Amino acid sequence: MGSPSEPSGLPVEPYKVKVVERIRLPSREEREAALVRAGYNLFNLTSDEVYIDLLTDSGTSAMSDRQWAGLMVGDETYAGSRNYARFESVVRELTGFPEVIPAHQGRAAENLLFSLLVHPGTFVPNNMHFDTTRTHVMRNGGAAVNLAVAEAYRPSDLSPFKGNVDLAKLSALLEREGREKVPLVVVTLTNNTGGGQPVSLANLTAVAALCREHRVPLYLDMCRWAENAYFVREREEGQSHRSIREIGRSLFDLADGATMSAKKDGLVNIGGFVATRDPKLAERLREQLIVFEGFPTYGGLARRDLEAVAIGLVEATDLDYLAHRVGQVRYLAAQLEAGGVPFLKPPGGHGIYLDVRAFLPHLGKSDLPGQALAVELYREGAVRSVEVGSIMFGDGEGASDGALELVRLAIPRRVYTVSHLDYVARTVLAVHARRASVRGFEMTYVPERLRHFTARFRPR
Ligand code: F0G
Repeated sequence: MGSPSEPSGLPVEPYKVKVVERIRLPSREEREAALVRAGYNLFNLTSDEVYIDLLTDSGTSAMSDRQWAGLMVGDETYAGSRNYARFESVVRELTGFPEVIPAHQGRAAENLLFSLLVHPGTFVPNNMHFDTTRTHVMRNGGAAVNLAVAEAYRPSDLSPFKGNVDLAKLSALLEREGREKVPLVVVTLTNNTGGGQPVSLANLTAVAALCREHRVPLYLDMCRWAENAYFVREREEGQSHRSIREIGRSLFDLADGATMSAKKDGLVNIGGFVATRDPKLAERLREQLIVFEGFPTYGGLARRDLEAVAIGLVEATDLDYLAHRVGQVRYLAAQLEAGGVPFLKPPGGHGIYLDVRAFLPHLGKSDLPGQALAVELYREGAVRSVEVGSIMFGDGEGASDGALELVRLAIPRRVYTVSHLDYVARTVLAVHARRASVRGFEMTYVPERLRHFTARFRPR
């Protein structure tokens, strides 16, 4: 069993297409007009203005026929829906966490957990905070601290586990602040902000030991846990014979709980949860849930959505699926590498992260080079990407610590074909060929928080 590979090494798609969605390449004039209308912020583009949408891998997956069928058995009961029961049992079985609290997406789960645990004057370490986790920590008066290993900040370093936590730094923080000031430690699987890079089982084991020693709970931001487990299987000694589910269990067994955006490795368009081993905390989480999201057996979702999550979580652990998914990222990486395009290496689980400083060395930080590159990719081929750098994190405590300036090409799950990826590669190569002429940008509207979503720009 398994999928054969093409000569390029890319595994042949382990699925066939049942429904199609028309897409269309807007003309050059339409693209220029769209950029002006959008204030050069690609979040302001409409989907009709975009040809290949690599803005995010979140909530953009193609669902399977089984998931669509699952929607039809939605039991829309307010309390005690059988879809919730199925969802709860799948999450329990995969993670081993007994308490499962549904939420409509990852940040809702973060809000529930962090508003209970994080208080003014506390510190929340993470390998690297995603923008929403960082914002939830800060909203509750905490400081979001990034403790990724040094190689995470070196785009061409080929280390296999660049998502790892710097253990010396974590130990020093726990020694200095103690459990009174560190309400929880978070580890993000995979490290999205740092290039979709995995965390090793060995590193997480050591993090868990430090947490136990200091009696601080360890929570996983498990959005892309199946992709992380795939890398562990491939790269960590003694793991290659184990299934994704077994490796996942080894990761979860080390933690006290997790927050999940099922919009990633749940293969759905909406959904998430918090899970924990702590029944008292679960009680308080459910109280919060009822106020902000809904009753504990639906948590802000239609019950049919919980059915789709239950199915998607399991589908995401299929080795053929994961080999193809990570294979797509590598396929794109190989074409960019052959053309001399600088990107963060090794390629991660869910996308390519262009290394903006090396791509546009003539632009300084104040020229907003990531924005300039993202705009240029859109102008060239109506490919939408996202800046992950000083605009996303530029308001002081950057989650990239100002050390990484990236443009992410996130690949939606089960959505694009090889020829779409070839087209993306051609677009990036065309911009790379004329990179010296790319001009900088400045902001004309600067929101206070999560500014990349709503900022506006103009060319310099
Ligand atoms: N944690 C990580 C690591 C994420 O990547 C995201 C979302 C979240 C939490 C929040 O989840 O969107 O369901 O509320 N990342 C998306 C992205 C938005 O484009 O990377 P959410």
